[in-house]
Amino acid sequence: MNSSIHIRPEHKEDIKHISQIIEAAFKDHPHGSHKEHLLVDELRADKALSLSLVAELDGEIVGHIAFSKVTIGGEFDSWYGLAPVSVDPDFQQQGIGSRLIEYGLSELRKREANGCVLVGEPGFYKRFGFEHLDDLIYEGVPDKYFLVLPFTKKIPKGRVRYHNLFETYG
Ligand SMILES: CC(C)(COP(=O)(O)OP(=O)(O)OC[C@H]1O[C@@H](n2cnc3c(N)ncnc32)[C@H](O)[C@@H]1OP(=O)(O)O)[C@@H](O)C(=O)NCCC(=O)NCCS
Repeated sequence: MNSSIHIRPEHKEDIKHISQIIEAAFKDHPHGSHKEHLLVDELRADKALSLSLVAELDGEIVGHIAFSKVTIGGEFDSWYGLAPVSVDPDFQQQGIGSRLIEYGLSELRKREANGCVLVGEPGFYKRFGFEHLDDLIYEGVPDKYFLVLPFTKKIPKGRVRYHNLFETYG
């Protein structure tokens, strides 16, 4: 793990660089929409980025992670969606993505969130405690890729929905 990595909230001046990193990270992604950078821009414009963090290495931004509100059964109950997380291809496999995820999850817990959901590779995300739970339903992807991490013992049931923009850009 790289100890000179610093995680912090995004600043206005970072926006262009964040967009470039997201676009580069998803360029060759087999299941990506290649619009993930636009999704983040639009969520920001709609004030729907609940948490937007950058990873700096020696003062240079090399990674980014976004969290936004999700509803379960049509209600917001302090659950958030992790999406997307991106690391500059030149800096992947150095623990930066994991640091962003761990930091983001700890920020959500500090804010007394009830849980986090994501669509992703179980092999990667299970190390952070994510798992598939049948009570939380997300349409459009095979069950095993829809992963959840409750922060409390009370786990809601129902259909999970991200911000509408995910339908356009997700
Ligand atoms: C996914 C991503 C953020 C991980 O960042 P990173 O800094 O390379 O990750 P880390 O170095 O912390 O962790 C690397 C580990 O994750 C694993 N990993 C990374 N992507 C993976 C994937 N798609 N499926 C399974 N495992 C994956 C690596 O094999 C490695 O495992 P190891 O620790 O057992 O060797 C980065 O690869 C990326 O930006 N990918 C393109 C965008 C993307 O797929 N985002 C996630 C979907 S929202």
